[in-house]
Amino acid sequence: MKKLQIGLFLLLGVGLVMQSCKDNIADSFHDYTDDEYEIISQKLNLPIEVFEYSSDQNVLIDDFGEQHIPNRRDNHKATLGRVLFYDTKLSINESISCASCHKQDLAFADDVAFSEGFNGELTTRNSLPLGNTIGFEMAYGGPRGSLFAWDESNEDIASQSKAAIISEIEMGLDMDELVDRIEEDEVYSILFSKSYGDSDIFQHRILEAIEEFVNSIVSNESKFDHETADIGGDVFKTFPGFTEAENKGKTIYFQKCATCHSFDHKLTAKAVANNGLDVEYEDKGLGGRTLNAHDNGVFKVPFLRNIELTAPYMHDGRFATIREVINHYSEGIANHPNLDLQLIENNQPKQMNFTEDEKVALEAYLKTLTDKVLMTEVKFSDPFKI
Ligand code: HEC
Ligand code: HEC
Repeated sequence: MKKLQIGLFLLLGVGLVMQSCKDNIADSFHDYTDDEYEIISQKLNLPIEVFEYSSDQNVLIDDFGEQHIPNRRDNHKATLGRVLFYDTKLSINESISCASCHKQDLAFADDVAFSEGFNGELTTRNSLPLGNTIGFEMAYGGPRGSLFAWDESNEDIASQSKAAIISEIEMGLDMDELVDRIEEDEVYSILFSKSYGDSDIFQHRILEAIEEFVNSIVSNESKFDHETADIGGDVFKTFPGFTEAENKGKTIYFQKCATCHSFDHKLTAKAVANNGLDVEYEDKGLGGRTLNAHDNGVFKVPFLRNIELTAPYMHDGRFATIREVINHYSEGIANHPNLDLQLIENNQPKQMNFTEDEKVALEAYLKTLTDKVLMTEVKFSDPFKI
């Protein structure tokens, strides 16, 4: 009897030790303690182990053949940035977030020419898509010096984000007020501690985390990407998985468009250009900022990734469909004094004069740039429960 009692006692003891080991293991393997996770989970759907936000597939080669470092991200900062990106607290009346104008199912662009800000006023330009801003970020400071916004007025995502927050049209919030709001929120104190080792909330930390998230949004699962990978990276080869029209469209695109918009869709080949939308521009673009007449009507050359999802097109959203864009290059290029040299022949706009067949092919090719995975990837989605 005594033996049995001792035996049971021992068994219980071992069991208890094992249980506490398991708890410790659970704590050290999970990114949040049980208490932290409970607080977070009242408001947010975050995984107990943070998502992986780095992407090895995004090694970039710049125009001069130099290979940039792979895309390494800090998973805790990107998680914090994700929450901030979807938080309406970033606007003065808590009505909109970054995601109101950069919608995941639209490749982080908007489906209207001009988006509504916090009080219903409209932005003056078309919202830009976000999947691959890292390409511009890496190029900045390099020989090309690529920047953000249609008039390249911001040098990085942090300053672009700040511009959106304090803009009187977009979010209308003072940065100090934002810091106060974030400080009052228990969830943020946990997320900041994970990211920075302490829960101090500073402006630059808020902006850095948003930047980390935005730069983690990398689109590389389109049909074009898979074909490029399958063929060993040589985009100039005929893609076996493409239809005849898609391959034909690729050739036309390489001849007529890629010298500005890029061959591999990782980095645009040209930073800014005038593509002859009008003879005179209402919005002067780069010229409005530099006050140099040679910059009038000059705008950022945008990415064409996910172009199928980001209508309407151009800085003012004037074209509703890809076909309208193709028609512009085919027969509608205006003779603007700053028209890019690539679009000029004998002092006249070089209309591309596509046949119907070529237009169909070009459109088919542009649609191979659509990445459906990005549209639903949970790690980029809205984490708020309500
Ligand atoms: C009310 C709509 C609206 C909100 C809110 C908004 N944006 Fe934007 N965003 C735009 C528009 C419009 C542009 C183009 C602006 C321009 O060129 O002048 C833009 C441009 C950008 C760009 C530049 C992309 C490029 O390729 O150059 C980034 C990055 C960006 N926004 C991120 C954000 C982030 C992060 C937030 C939240 C802090 C945010 N935006 C909030 C409408 C919005
Ligand atoms: C000289 C450089 C240049 C060439 C060549 C060029 N583009 Fe563009 N493209 C631009 C610029 C600059 C813009 C933005 C203009 C603006 O909004 O004012 C643009 C905008 C676009 C847009 C709208 C993107 C968006 O997000 O709104 C599409 C689509 C496009 N181009 C497709 C093409 C196609 C297809 C070709 C070839 C037939 C082509 N481009 C040739 C410079 C160029």
